[in-house]
Amino acid sequence: MKPAISPGSALFSSGPTKKAPGFSLNQLSDASLGRSHRAKPAKAKLSSAIDRMHAMLGLPADYRLGIVPGSDTGAVEMAMWSVLGARGVDVLAWESFGKTWVSDAVKQLKLDDITILQADWGDLPDLSATQPDRDILFTWNGTTSGVRVPDADWIAADRTGLVIADATSACFAMDMDWAKIDIATFSWQKSLGGEGGHGVIILSPRAVERLESYTPPWPLPKIFQLTKNGKLIEGIFSGATINTPSMLCVEDLHAALDWAEGIGGLPGLIARSEASLAAVADWVAQTDWVDFLASDPATRSCTSICLKIVHPAMTGLPTEAQAAFAKQMTALLEAEQVAFDIGAYRDAPPGLRLWGGPTVDPDDIAALLPWLDWAFASILADTKI
Ligand SMILES: Cc1ncc(COP(=O)(O)O)c(C=O)c1O
Repeated sequence: MKPAISPGSALFSSGPTKKAPGFSLNQLSDASLGRSHRAKPAKAKLSSAIDRMHAMLGLPADYRLGIVPGSDTGAVEMAMWSVLGARGVDVLAWESFGKTWVSDAVKQLKLDDITILQADWGDLPDLSATQPDRDILFTWNGTTSGVRVPDADWIAADRTGLVIADATSACFAMDMDWAKIDIATFSWQKSLGGEGGHGVIILSPRAVERLESYTPPWPLPKIFQLTKNGKLIEGIFSGATINTPSMLCVEDLHAALDWAEGIGGLPGLIARSEASLAAVADWVAQTDWVDFLASDPATRSCTSICLKIVHPAMTGLPTEAQAAFAKQMTALLEAEQVAFDIGAYRDAPPGLRLWGGPTVDPDDIAALLPWLDWAFASILADTKI
């Protein structure tokens, strides 16, 4: 039987994600359009966006936050190109994005002292194998496998290397132990439901020290340059962006931050995301055809909730047949207008990926679950296995 109740919104994409509840284009009417981004009103919008993100994330006062080009990818690569090579680096990867950073380190930067710590889909590498006197590069939440680090306890407080975290699907949805992170990056198109294109980079004082004392041996394009004549370009961290930002996107960010403040800031955002994960976990516990891709419950992501189909009729099938089954399910759910964009990431094992970030209503996630059962049963009934 088709469920009687549909989710209030069918938007469960992992990026760009659903806009914040109540979003309307009218919220952007005060955007500083047609003026220089260096003019007073625009600069004020940029610098207050920085201040508001800094405050809501609970960053230590001596950490800097800047808006940079190229979305999260731009911010991660800016960090890698700017600080790596000064000492050996441990690069961790357990899904597609982490693997991209491994490839950058090996094939683009051609670093000569890299330890690669990898794990298969659903698992984490041995975090305790990282060394405190080396740099560490990892993805806080692996968006394509739904596996996150459970905490930062494995990072030494008295480390001498820098810790660089791609935290794009973790910031504003998970507790981050900032004392253990030297560089973090994210983009607005994840937990805040903002627009793509702009990245954010967060620097600890030790990261700034590295930037000011180390010159990498490779050329740095202008859009990666955080220093000038050996000094940090402080303006980047008060709203004087490296190049032209979209003031429409900045206005949209302010609207998202208004909503986030209205629900209690970071604790409110985290609570919504964890409620979505809890709803899915309860359902998975009672449902025999589905399981989390994350093998350890402590590593299950509350934002990118990745599921695999474990029904006995399915597990013996070749990967292509499993992928085709999952695709039929997502097509059916899309045709019913109850869930868009919930297919597993293109390189990930076949399955489903539900975005449970803060802008998604946990009640919508709960309402979607009976539809998943219905879609599974419908496709199974039509499939000759
Ligand atoms: C962990 C991770 N890193 C990097 C990216 C790339 O982000 P962007 O498209 O904002 O550059 C994503 C996007 O989903 C991601 O999930």
